[in-house]
Parts: sequence; structure tokens; C-alpha cells
Amino acid sequence: MVSRTIPVDDFDLVLFGATGDLASRKILPSLYRRFLAGQVPPTARIIGAARSEMDDEGFRGLVREALDSFVSAGKRQEQAIADFLAQCSYIPVDAKGDGGWDRLKESVRDEAVKAFYFSVAPSLFGPLAQRLRSHGIACENSRLVVEKPFGVDLESARKLNADLAASFDEHQIYRIDHFLGKETVQNLMAVRFANVLFEPLWNERYVDHVQITVAETVGVGGRGAYYDTAGAMRDMVQNHLMQLLCLTAMEPPTHFDADMLRDEKLKVIRALDPLTPAEIVRGQYKEGPDGPSYLDDAENPQSRTESYVALKVSISNWRWKGTPFYLRTGKRMTRRLSEIVIQFKETPHSIFDRDEGSSANALTIRLQPDEGIDLSVTIKEPGPGGMRLVNVPLDMTFADALGPDGEEIPDAYERLIMDVIRGNQTLFMRGDEVEAAWAWTDPIIEGWIDRGAQPYKYAQGSSGPEEAMMLMHRDGRRWRELDV
Ligand code: BG6
Repeated sequence: MVSRTIPVDDFDLVLFGATGDLASRKILPSLYRRFLAGQVPPTARIIGAARSEMDDEGFRGLVREALDSFVSAGKRQEQAIADFLAQCSYIPVDAKGDGGWDRLKESVRDEAVKAFYFSVAPSLFGPLAQRLRSHGIACENSRLVVEKPFGVDLESARKLNADLAASFDEHQIYRIDHFLGKETVQNLMAVRFANVLFEPLWNERYVDHVQITVAETVGVGGRGAYYDTAGAMRDMVQNHLMQLLCLTAMEPPTHFDADMLRDEKLKVIRALDPLTPAEIVRGQYKEGPDGPSYLDDAENPQSRTESYVALKVSISNWRWKGTPFYLRTGKRMTRRLSEIVIQFKETPHSIFDRDEGSSANALTIRLQPDEGIDLSVTIKEPGPGGMRLVNVPLDMTFADALGPDGEEIPDAYERLIMDVIRGNQTLFMRGDEVEAAWAWTDPIIEGWIDRGAQPYKYAQGSSGPEEAMMLMHRDGRRWRELDV
């Protein structure tokens, strides 16, 4: 398959926080890969902005290091890197003062798309937005990109929204949830809305339950100070898992249009039932052969923050009433795996004897690794041994089905950054959506703080605490094994 590269308009991208970790791990390598794919016009400019005093050459050195560390060897082509670096420059800017802003104003072009990427602490969103406006740098074709965390609760998210709205219109604001840029997450929409096969079955009549898992093997070491104020609920559920839930549960929008899609997601969030304590299991990893305990990583021996959470979520609408969505995410688990499983009900009546096997289908959308989709179907076991039934996967691994030999699936950031330049907000969160997600999350967090709830301990390299298994066992269901 030849991948289609849609050209974008000429642009100036100003990257605030250009010397930070996210810029070097994700943003700059993604821009380079798009450059290599021919999608960055030769006149486009990438302007690093941060507090440190540095000249263009110094910044190019940093970009070079980022590419060496985070772009695969096969894509590091000397001439291409030199050409890419020639399009990069740097301006020291004081986010809370006046330094650098006049120079920045002179450096960006009014005739090109202007994108301002805030890869900085949320406390700087307001001051930066305000200065872009007051120095006359931002204009109608300017776009603002903001990273998570977008607030720590409803109140702080409202404040951030208000700070941004004071200087930019909602149609100019791109709130990143990088999960929405993942290839398979977009495929979830294609599978649902471009095939006639699934939609008639996509409801409480045919779906027994849905499981959404985002398991990671990494711990929180290195980010302990931030993570301990967030926990799995704020770091992963309020945003990434919530988005996966919305895309799985939402009604078909009339068009694949940013606001229509986001309207449908918002309706799902507003239909979520509040959770009871029995529907929540929180965990913290213990010390193990692969690393220190959560408490050591977080450098807080008293911490009650969860590095794992499992939830049973109910949606009160016609489509889903009675079909639970089980969500789980955790650090230091047995395996890195993100997937959505639509577990269908058994056939209403079986013409086969029970001991001949089960006949429940499941559709699995694998986000990572091995991006792909598989549908388990029940067939007759081959051979003359009678009518024995067996579940087999109809497996479509994207790398096999779509990619030319060895081609990497693009990083989520590549897609998202180019969507900003194109002016396409479909894969970004709208302000009201983020607020609705916090409005649902806040009482859950407040509830366990009020109860003084202690997380259960779990072994590193496991599937999480035993109690999370009980969450499903009680309902006569089980999580999909992680370590198969
Ligand atoms: C981030 C979280 O948003 O997503 C991290 O802050 C998490 O804690 C990461 O590890 C997971 O993203 P990915 O793309 O590596 O699955």
C-alpha cells in the first residue's frame, strides 16, 4: 500500500517549551518524520521558544540530539537532517515578562499558518496566550496547541479554558490527547462507521460488556513528583481511557466533522453514572526485581496515590443501559498492552451441546503493540471427532495488512501536528468535553479521599491487584489475560 501524504499549507510553528522532554521525545522527531514524508513545505519554519538563552545553532544541536535519540536509524538521513535543521531556529522568550516577544513578532509571517504549541506547564498557558494576543502576534489564522494535563479538576480546567478563551476562539484551540492520534483509535471509528456489519450489534442487546485496558510495564520513576499529584485516574482515565470509551460508545455523528463528533462524545460523558466505591479498585505496585516500589519512585512513603485503577462504568442511555464498560490501567504490569474488547453475548439458543464449546464472539481492537483488529468467531474444530466448537481469531494486524515491508506506523503526534496545520480539530478535545470529563471524575477522587481509601498493593509484572479480578468475577465475567 502506498501511504497518501496530504500536503499542508506553509506554516510557522512556534514551539514553547522547545528545550523540554516532550519536545525532544515526541514533537521534534514527529516533525522530522513528516518532513521526510514530504509534508513540511520547504519554506515552513519551526521556531523553538523557551526561557534559556541560546542561539539558532545551539537549538539545532538540541534538535539533532533529539533526532539521534528518538528517530529510528533507518530514517536518519544526513542530507534530510541538515535540510530539516536549516528550517529550525530559536528565540529566547520570557513567558511571564516582555523579553523576546518583539523579536518573535518580527519572525512569524502573517501570510502563513501560525501555530503556537504550548509544551509547557499549564500555569503558563494563560500568560503565553495573553502575550501572543497583546503583542499582536496571534491573528485569525493562528492556532494554539495545548498539552495535557488540562487541569487537575473541574475548577482548574474551567480556569484554563477561561484563560485561553480570553485571547483565542475555541475554533483556534487544539487540546491534545495523543491517544486520539493513534492509528487504531481512528480505525475504531472506521470499523464502526464504515462497515455495515457491526453497527446493528453495537448495543446492549448484543454486547455483554466492553473491556478497555491500557497496561504499561514502565513505572513512574523520574516523573514521581508529578505523578503522585495525579495518579492513574487523572493521568490516564480522565483523558485517554475516557476518549476510548467515548469513541466506542458514542452514536454515529452525521458527518465526520469536528463538532459533530465532539457533540456525540460529550453526550456519552454526560450519560455516565456516578461510581460507587464497590465499582472502583485502586492499586499501587510493590517493590520488585525490575525496580523500586511506587512509594520509593514517588519519594512519598505515605502516598495513597494509585498507580493502577480498575472501574466498572455504566452508561445510562438507550444503547448501553445494562452493558457495563470495565476500564483498567496501570504501571509496572506484566506487559505493555492497550486494547478495547467488545465481548458479545452468547447466541440466544445453542443447537450444540454445552460441552461442545462456547459461542460468544469478541471484537478486539489492539491499540498497541501489534496494532490491529481481531474478531473471534466460533467454528467447528477440524477433524473427524464430531461437532466440537472452537474459537478462532479472524486477525487483521495492520503491519501485515497495510504496511509495506518494515514501514513504521506513524506516531500519534505526526498525525496530530499535521491536523493542526490543516485546521482540523476532529481529533482534539473541545473545552466542554474536558470539563464534562472532570465533572464525572472529581466526585470519584473526592470520594476516595474522604474515605481515606488505601490502594491495594500489587506485584510488579502482574495483572494488578487480585481485587480487580473480583470486580469482574462478581459479575460472572473475567478480564482478558494480559500475559498471553
Ligand atoms: C501519558 C501519561 O499521557 O500517556 C503517561 O502521562 C503514560 O503516564 C502515557 O505512560 C502513555 O502513552 P503511550 O502513547 O506510551 O501509550
